[in-house]
Amino acid sequence: MIGDHFSLCSLDDMPDPGARQFLWEEGEHPLAFFLVRQRNEVFAYVNQCPHAGHQLNWMPDRFLTRDGGLILCNSHGARFRIHDGFCVEGPCPGENLRPIAIEMKGEKIFARKEELRAALEVVLRFL
Ligand code: FES
Repeated sequence: MIGDHFSLCSLDDMPDPGARQFLWEEGEHPLAFFLVRQRNEVFAYVNQCPHAGHQLNWMPDRFLTRDGGLILCNSHGARFRIHDGFCVEGPCPGENLRPIAIEMKGEKIFARKEELRAALEVVLRFL
C-alpha cells in the first residue's frame, strides 16, 4: 500500500491478453475484482456478473474467452467487451460490468482505496 493507493501488480505479471483476480479488504465480504490486460492497456471490473450476480470465473484468473477477445461469465455464458465491460452476447445484452478506475505508474498498477471502497459499498447494497 502506498498512501491512499493499493498496489495491485506490474504489467509484466499479467499475460497478454490475460487477467488476474484480487480481493480487497478482510472480513466476511471483501471486494472481488479483476484486471484484464490487452496489449499495454489494463482494465478493472468488479467480479460480479450483471445477469445473476455470480462471480464470473470458475478457475483462478480465468476471465477471458478462448480466443482472449472477450470477458466471459462462466455461469450462463455472458460475454463482455474488454475495454468497457459492455455485454455483447448472452443473457444480459446491453448491461455492463462495474468498472473500477485504476492508475498506472510506469509498469505498476494501482487502485485508489476510495475507489475500491465505493465499489464495495455498491456490491454490499445488493447482498
Ligand atoms: S450470472 Fe453471468 S451469465 Fe448468468
